[in-house]
Amino acid sequence: MCGIVGYIGEQDAKEVLLKGLERLEYRGYDSAGIAVRNDEGVTVFKEKGRIADLRGAVDYAVEASTGIGHTRWATHGKPNKVNAHPHQSTAERFTLVHNGVIENYHHIQRDYLADVEMQSDTDTEIIVQLIAKFAGEGMTTKEAFCKSLTLLEGSYAIALLDAEEAETIYVAKNKSPLLVGLGERFNVIASDAMAMLQLTDQFVELMDKEIVIVRKDGVEIETLAGEGMRREPFTAEIDMSDIEKGTYPHYMLKEIDEQPAVVRKIVQAYQDDNDQLTIDPAILDALNSADRLHIIAAGTSYHAGLIGKEYLEKMTGIPVEVHISSEFGYNMPLLSEKPLFIFISQSGETADSRQVLVKIKELGHASLTITNVGGSTLSREADHTLLLHAGPEIAVASTKAYTAQLAVLAILAGVAAKARGKDIGFDLVQELGIVANAIQSQVDAKEEMEAIAHQYLATTRNCFFIGRVFDYFVGLEGALKLKEISYIQAEGFAGGELKHGTIALIEEGTPVIALATQEAVNLNIRGNVKEVAARGANPCIISMEGLQEQGDAHVLPKVNEMLSPLVSVIPMQLISYYAALHRDCDVDKPRNLAKSVTVE
Ligand code: M6R
Repeated sequence: MCGIVGYIGEQDAKEVLLKGLERLEYRGYDSAGIAVRNDEGVTVFKEKGRIADLRGAVDYAVEASTGIGHTRWATHGKPNKVNAHPHQSTAERFTLVHNGVIENYHHIQRDYLADVEMQSDTDTEIIVQLIAKFAGEGMTTKEAFCKSLTLLEGSYAIALLDAEEAETIYVAKNKSPLLVGLGERFNVIASDAMAMLQLTDQFVELMDKEIVIVRKDGVEIETLAGEGMRREPFTAEIDMSDIEKGTYPHYMLKEIDEQPAVVRKIVQAYQDDNDQLTIDPAILDALNSADRLHIIAAGTSYHAGLIGKEYLEKMTGIPVEVHISSEFGYNMPLLSEKPLFIFISQSGETADSRQVLVKIKELGHASLTITNVGGSTLSREADHTLLLHAGPEIAVASTKAYTAQLAVLAILAGVAAKARGKDIGFDLVQELGIVANAIQSQVDAKEEMEAIAHQYLATTRNCFFIGRVFDYFVGLEGALKLKEISYIQAEGFAGGELKHGTIALIEEGTPVIALATQEAVNLNIRGNVKEVAARGANPCIISMEGLQEQGDAHVLPKVNEMLSPLVSVIPMQLISYYAALHRDCDVDKPRNLAKSVTVE
């Protein structure tokens, strides 16, 4: 979602900001802008569309070494140039970028800004107008900034320039991520360390309801009440090569290809010196003393959670519920006495999940976050964290984070089961090794996947995915992948559920991708395929060695059935990728979507 960058130093701020925004493109946005400050004041450049469009709108003759920038994912008001950030106060003294949602902006407008003519339809503009109002009443910029922040309800990360104050950026956050990066005679701000990694790997984390005054030679952190704070920087451990596409045409393809290595890396990361899988004892305690586990997640992470439930219940015997995070907080089920909440989130920033974390913490319940981003909000705020070790995932469509989530959930379940004295019946390290090899064979089968995408999905309006048991959950993920990047209407169904309604949708030629990797239900899913074929569907069966039949479109290598989702999802990802390519879709940045969904 929205991304923020800021720079104050000696270089050309425009270029630093534009490059930073390019690194935040993966978050998803529909307009962008920068504001730079020099002795003549503040100049704003903004544009609807991509950073490339913004570059075309920038006047490169304007020299400045201080500035802020923003990518906007529209919430309040259309994605157009007027609503793009930065926003300015009416007299153009203050200029501001904002990430988040101000829930009480109507009230603020009514109570404080009734006489101000707003330029945009955004909730953001009221912040900058409010600061200008208080400054106009005689407050210093810092006082006006703090006073305004105390009135805001909702989420925000904010960077503010004052045309009358050289070389200062005011920064604050509440619920939305924001970091300050430190350098020699420069400092930066960024929603994500990746944006400024070319300049520094030293970052200071901001806490909610603090302000930071960023200058070229230092940063001052204060609470809203004016109490000075000290905080040590941390080193962002991201390899530049992880965030470059290299020779790949798209991040999504690169990330699909990384999956065998990610699974191997996870196994290593969770092995002790004796090559035994291990989990932090405090996490095992929390899990083994819980009477029920609640998995909370959204999108792809929710789909991983459905499989995680199977792993945890089957291996440990602890009952597990899986919930969509945006529903759970507002429709909480009856809770048992000692639940453990497990948050699964690639980014660790998903606002829908965070609202649940806040609520269950108020109730005094224990929490564990499984995330790819150490130091993310969900990681910091939960009692425990397990890392995915997948490396930065940049494409909006989640691929390697999903397989990483499954691998970590399997390890968590396997180790917890062992601690409970239960035998899971197979050697997890060995089986995950076999899985990594099987994933490799699938990422190597790109031509075959491209042909399947072409044969079944070239012109279709819709597509169904069916499966049973684990294959049903992978089908849900396959459908999400296909719809989000190719815009084909795709749905996943439990095979047995078709006859209860969905089969009415089958028309002549409707593609139905059926997964058949589970021996116990192989005949059942084959029966479901016959039912749709009899009604004109064009079935594409993806089966597993040992279960294959004549006419199957693709056969996966044999792996442990419980772990089959890590392998069967690869054709789903590749088929979606090639279907999207065939339709000329922007694979890495699908329309309307954001990578990190930081608003509820
Ligand atoms: O960062 P998270 O895992 O919490 O994100 C949740 C979803 O927004 C995410 O999985 C989304 O569904 C993916 N773009 C799907 O590919």
